[in-house]
Amino acid sequence: MTKLTLRLEKILSHILPCGVLADIGTDHTKIPVAAVERGLCQFALATDKSTAAVRSATEYIKSRELTDRVRVLQGDALNPIADETVNCLVIAGMGGILISEMLNNGLRGLLEYRSRRNPFNITSAGRQLNGLGQIILLPHRDVSLARDTLLRHGLTNISDDLFTDKGKAYHILDCEVR
Ligand SMILES: C[S@@+](CC[C@H](N)C(=O)[O-])C[C@H]1O[C@@H](n2cnc3c(N)ncnc32)[C@H](O)[C@@H]1O
Repeated sequence: MTKLTLRLEKILSHILPCGVLADIGTDHTKIPVAAVERGLCQFALATDKSTAAVRSATEYIKSRELTDRVRVLQGDALNPIADETVNCLVIAGMGGILISEMLNNGLRGLLEYRSRRNPFNITSAGRQLNGLGQIILLPHRDVSLARDTLLRHGLTNISDDLFTDKGKAYHILDCEVR
């Protein structure tokens, strides 16, 4: 099992069981890998704009023997998942301004387009593939801006989780998409 810091454990603790999770700005890929390993999602899309991050993510997923369940995509913000099925969206470890820009540019399409390409050819009726159901944000700063952006998209069911890890304060916004 992938060992996580308290901050990452907190993010994992918010994920509701789902079919496909997407982690934007995945870097070390610990979030999607742990989510799959713990059965929180069936499959995961791990995206990052950095070539170095994508390279190391690909190696890490290979080392965990998860290449059939975690796919690495390179690209900016929500662009790499624009046509994909996503049930849970995670954006963590970036500022609220950047997270808001990402949501403003890509969230509308993700919310509106329900019959999306199924990246893992999931056919089991038991798996939830009914579009985006949850958004988990961990902005390092400008949390209120990230929350306001969710609200402007009509997403009002947001719960807050405040905690500290190694003396640093963190704030998770956990949003149910209805
Ligand atoms: C500090 S790391 C956070 C990693 C992980 N999400 C976490 O919370 O531990 C930020 C990552 O976001 C990526 N990133 C920054 N801006 C991005 C963008 N516009 N689109 C995609 N990825 C981005 C960076 O390349 C980096 O790998």
